[in-house]
Amino acid sequence: MKKVILDCDPGHDDAFAIMLAAKHLDVLGITTIGGNGTLENVSSNALKVLEVIDRGEIPVYAGHEGPLVNPLVTAPQFHGETGMDGPILPEPTIKLQEQHAVDFIVETVLANKEITLIATGPLTNIASAINKNPQILENIKEICIMGGSVTFGNWTPAAEFNIYVDPEAASKVFNSGALVKMTGVNLTRQCIITEKELKDFQDINTKASIFAAELVDYFIGATLKSANVHGANLHDACAVAWIINPELIKSVPMHIDIELHGELTRGMTVCDYRHLRGSEPGVDLTRTPTMDYRGKEPNAEAALELDFEGFLDLLNDTLRDYN
Ligand code: BDR
Ligand code: CA
Repeated sequence: MKKVILDCDPGHDDAFAIMLAAKHLDVLGITTIGGNGTLENVSSNALKVLEVIDRGEIPVYAGHEGPLVNPLVTAPQFHGETGMDGPILPEPTIKLQEQHAVDFIVETVLANKEITLIATGPLTNIASAINKNPQILENIKEICIMGGSVTFGNWTPAAEFNIYVDPEAASKVFNSGALVKMTGVNLTRQCIITEKELKDFQDINTKASIFAAELVDYFIGATLKSANVHGANLHDACAVAWIINPELIKSVPMHIDIELHGELTRGMTVCDYRHLRGSEPGVDLTRTPTMDYRGKEPNAEAALELDFEGFLDLLNDTLRDYN
């Protein structure tokens, strides 16, 4: 099994990311970051998810409360006041580890070769770990993030939420020299969960699948109310699914950098698409990369196309396999 650390801010879709990762990957630890909710809430949510799936042995480490420079922006309109409203869960009996998430990441990456970092929240903890000890980059196989977009944003016209919250951290990660696999909203918008999938979760009828149904029930309602969109995107689950089964996502190499200063574009992932001649992102997916890069060499692999049916099979099998 691939060794991973999952850095997240649960979050309805982060909860799905945890459930997939805990079943199919060797999760050395879960680290939390303020994002969808406060650090206190998202950390408690991570523990609750692990308790639902009886995986309390996976250690959880709390990280930064928010970005190092700017104030934290949270997303209660999509995730509720707790960051994971909907399912009514008891207070977790498992406890957070005492070590800070950043120290855990540094220590664990140094001790393990070929480790994958999966980040489904703002990138503050990952950037901090690189700042603290850049040597970790030698052992990082890849950093698979949910964040950014090859096309348009969701939090602003230009920026996706996770990058918008801490663009400086994202800039550090994209410019670190590590391979960044970017699961942006251009991809995750193809992962649309509606009442049909909700019903499938109910029919599977395991503790995990009922939890999943309660999560998406709330998430579908909040998405309709706040974005006037029917169907919820399981953004973060896509990033984990990509690591579990790379066949599920088609991607292309690309140079991606982060806009830090634009009045309208702060937090935008600026994607150099120019080598993909003859196609527009999100429109014609039958492009052939020419590979004559016109700007900088690619630092990232941008996810473009999701095998949604394959994703659903993986998810439903996973929920069935939990009790
Ligand atoms: C991202 O923002 C959060 O609200 C979700 O959990 C996901 O990580 C989508 O833009
Ligand atoms: Ca998230």
